[in-house]
Amino acid sequence: MRIAVYPGSFDPITLGHLDVLRRAAGVFDRVVVAVLVNPRKAPAGEADDRMSAIGEAVAEALPDLVGQIQVRIFDGLTVDACRQAGARHIVRGLRAVSDFEAELQMAHMNHRLAPEIDTVFFMTALEYGYLSSSLVKEIARFGGDVSSMVPAGVAARLRASAEEGPRL
Ligand code: PNS
Repeated sequence: MRIAVYPGSFDPITLGHLDVLRRAAGVFDRVVVAVLVNPRKAPAGEADDRMSAIGEAVAEALPDLVGQIQVRIFDGLTVDACRQAGARHIVRGLRAVSDFEAELQMAHMNHRLAPEIDTVFFMTALEYGYLSSSLVKEIARFGGDVSSMVPAGVAARLRASAEEGPRL
């Protein structure tokens, strides 16, 4: 079975992430979405929220692929998440040339840590090439409409937390 891990912060998941996930599921038998819990970053939602947002988005946007996609939380090295999942590939999306340098470095480093694991890149669809989770959060925080950028459930959560006011 060809298994890949798609690691990321997914804070929150965007339509760009879903596009990469859909295309990865066309190549791999199973794609494990590994949600990074990084105590140094201040996540907008807890990891469980991010996980359930991904699960809901997959069920809604990619219903045919639900059986192929798993969502897990991880707080260590991506290569360890791959080994745990039995994956030989890491999936990442490339939106623009500006992503390339950091992604190249990460791919080489992961390959050095685990020579049996390769990184595979999918070019994010052009219409999502400008999307990023942090921009989406910023727009939502100031009351902007992000409904064309993120799954409906995520847009609703962002709207609700913007209405609650800023976190202290
Ligand atoms: O969505 P992001 O924030 O761009 O994802 C970055 C991520 C989670 C893929 C990267 O930070 C990562 O792999 N973190 C886990 C720790 C690790 O393995 N670090 C070494 C990478 S070479």
